[in-house]
Amino acid sequence: MTQTKIAVIGGSGIYDINGLEGAEWLTVESPWGPPSDAILTGTLDGVEMAFLPRHGRGHVHAPSTVPYRANIDALKRLGCTDVISVSACGSFRDEMAPGDFVIVDQFIDRTIAREKSFFGTGCVAHVSVAHPTCPRLGDACETAARDAGINVHRGGTYLAMEGPQFSTLAESKMYRESWGADVIGMTNMPEAKLAREAELCYASVAMITDYDSWHPDHGEVDVTKIIETLMGNADKGRQLVARLPKLLGADRAPCPHGCDRALEYAIMTQPE
Ligand code: ADE
Repeated sequence: MTQTKIAVIGGSGIYDINGLEGAEWLTVESPWGPPSDAILTGTLDGVEMAFLPRHGRGHVHAPSTVPYRANIDALKRLGCTDVISVSACGSFRDEMAPGDFVIVDQFIDRTIAREKSFFGTGCVAHVSVAHPTCPRLGDACETAARDAGINVHRGGTYLAMEGPQFSTLAESKMYRESWGADVIGMTNMPEAKLAREAELCYASVAMITDYDSWHPDHGEVDVTKIIETLMGNADKGRQLVARLPKLLGADRAPCPHGCDRALEYAIMTQPE
């Protein structure tokens, strides 16, 4: 058994966690550069927590310039065992409406301008990301969402786009109709891949703000509408997070899905 330490990476609209005991903002250094911001640490229901605002307080990092490697590395250095990603997204499905949450379990990575790996020079490793999210964490997020009265969908494919512009109508239709994506956002990649490389369990809670641009009954997406929905979502997101420590508990067994042992069969480089 090890001790659980839950990291929450908060997206647009979520810049802290309520009710943390012993709350303290810590500056964590990483060889991959400075993380998005200081990290808020403390305990909730006897479980250690760490919160990192993905865009920084004041929303200063765009999706393409979020320091994804430094963020994951800093959380690992702090001793985090589990990462819950919370982010805003657009929906490609009628039944996944603005205000609903999706516990994402798959990704299509269309990002093109981000550092995506800790491995490359010196040590080469190829981890599997066939199943990029942890079902055990997904279960906890789903239960927490249902208990908080949130309309939640379990499972969904998240299309990660580079941005910062939203998609064209043709792209929106292609992602939805041909590629089978359920939601779209700009931040979950390479975050999920890096969490796997760092042997951290990772779950993604996508909070729907809009129907992107494909929906005939809804206009094209714009930031004003997104911010309106975001404010309601952010409160629900905080309620979900507050329920996680009780559900996950302070004592942690090895991940039954092996997320925390992802490098066991992944390293190519001969040890010296
Ligand atoms: N984040 C929120 N809504 C989005 C959308 N429609 N496309 C990309 N990222 C988003």
